[in-house]
Amino acid sequence: MTVRQELADRILVVTIDRQEKLNALNAEVIDGLEAAIDRARSDAEVGAVIVTGAGPKAFVAGADIAELAKMTPVSGRLHARRGQSVFSRLESLGKPVIAAINGFALGGGCELALACTIRVASENAKLGQPEVKLGILPGYGGSQRLARIVGEGRAMEICLTGEPITAAEAYRIGLVNRVVPAGEALAAAREIAAKIVAQAPLAVAFTMDAIHHGLDLPLDDGLELEATLFGVCASTADMREGMAAFLEKRPPRFEGK
Ligand code: COA
Repeated sequence: MTVRQELADRILVVTIDRQEKLNALNAEVIDGLEAAIDRARSDAEVGAVIVTGAGPKAFVAGADIAELAKMTPVSGRLHARRGQSVFSRLESLGKPVIAAINGFALGGGCELALACTIRVASENAKLGQPEVKLGILPGYGGSQRLARIVGEGRAMEICLTGEPITAAEAYRIGLVNRVVPAGEALAAAREIAAKIVAQAPLAVAFTMDAIHHGLDLPLDDGLELEATLFGVCASTADMREGMAAFLEKRPPRFEGK
């Protein structure tokens, strides 16, 4: 199994384990990621997901170059569409996904992290889009998501030079949310995930929708979306429970209903 799934405390840890190739994304890994995403979506026990790479060296060192080397124009387009579709499903899972970037996150690895909700990096991590060095461009959403997260000029520099950046630089430009000592990315991601799964699940999902979809909307439409979702919360048992628990000075027991 090149993609492992472990569920504990409502957090599904998805580990890409192809260490001999620095966890590069071949077709089997993409299939394994898709299976994990499907499980995370349908399993009510899953409140949050963490994606990480096995071993101390790499999160994911990119799409598998040995596979890419054989592509034709037609298969190349299909290859990109396949990766894009799996990463888009990850992004729109409706549950938070935290990337625990434990080492190299290059090419498709950086794009995988970009499709996650929150990114945590260990201080030894290197992030980048080195595709231009191979005569291609990012094909799993990097040319689109990176600019939306760090701005056009920074995305241009990263994608056009192909040079990786350090975790500290990634933090400075807002590409990762926090940097932790080497070996601690997974623990830090678990800490964030645990805080999120303690909250009202529908409120978490609606908040993600409001922020994520709102970014693609004019402000007035984004505010309309926010107000509608805010109103929908009034129909949830979780809202009644959250407010009752506050007033009764006790911890809430949310059920995602
Ligand atoms: N696809 C396929 N295989 C990869 C890979 C990738 N993206 N990245 C690393 N590997 C393989 C190497 O070919 C090597 O395999 P081998 O032992 O059978 O020769 C193994 O993983 C270890 O990598 P190696 O290059 O020896 O490690 P390193 O520490 O010297 O360098 C990197 C690490 C990440 C700098 C280097 O592997 C690299 O540049 N990888 C490609 C990054 C990239 O361009 N990604 C974007 C692809 S679109």
